[in-house]
Amino acid sequence: MMAWRPLIAASILTADFGHLDRAVRKLERAGVDRLHLDVMDGHFVPNLTFGPDIVAAFRRLTSLPLDVHLMIAEPARYMDRFLDAEPDTVTFHVEAAETDDSKAGALQSVRSAGRGAGLAVSPGTPIDLVRPFLDLVDVVMVMTVEPGFGGQRFMADAAPKMSVASAWLGEAGGQGMVHVDGGVNRDTAALAGRWGADVYVVGSALFQRGQDATDEVRLVRERAWAGRMESSLERTPAGPRAG
Ligand code: DX5
Ligand code: ZN
Repeated sequence: MMAWRPLIAASILTADFGHLDRAVRKLERAGVDRLHLDVMDGHFVPNLTFGPDIVAAFRRLTSLPLDVHLMIAEPARYMDRFLDAEPDTVTFHVEAAETDDSKAGALQSVRSAGRGAGLAVSPGTPIDLVRPFLDLVDVVMVMTVEPGFGGQRFMADAAPKMSVASAWLGEAGGQGMVHVDGGVNRDTAALAGRWGADVYVVGSALFQRGQDATDEVRLVRERAWAGRMESSLERTPAGPRAG
């Protein structure tokens, strides 16, 4: 059984979109484990980014695992096109305008394509909304900012949802991963670790002028680890999952 280690997923939302290849090389050199691609439609969130063709461009640019984060109103409608871009995981929001059957169908289509399926919950959404889909997800993404923009402050009130999701995923077979997304950096990583995150989405903290991305990756990983170990010592609900 591979030992647990915090994984860093770099969000490219605050990268220079005029030089995405340069941003990817910088992130690879910084030692990130995954790329986190924020897709926004201007309806589900008040911002617009890119679609499946850009995801496919990232697929051609790097061998890093690609986590697509769909902040769009109708994820089922576009799922096949995103899957054609060959991401490693596709996560959409439990708040999206779909019926439960449609959400379940979308999750199943991701898995049928051999990809990881995920549900994201915004800060104000109860984690209970994810519960009916637990046997269909490989990712539960807990948002610690309001979705739509990078560079926001970490919302600690949303963090406890991670330990609930972690416990549920453990009960559902233990293969699923908790992603924490929004305001994660060297100062907030320990708290996220304490509450049980497995994958740490880091965006703007990797693109700070004058700050070394390699240092940030190292510090987030170290402090996430410390937070996780601390929680296991205190046996808070966020302790590492058994197995
Ligand atoms: C926000 C996105 C996040 C964001 C993370 O809607 O889902 O992935 O880009 O960036 P930072 O780390 O700057 O909050
Ligand atoms: Zn995101």
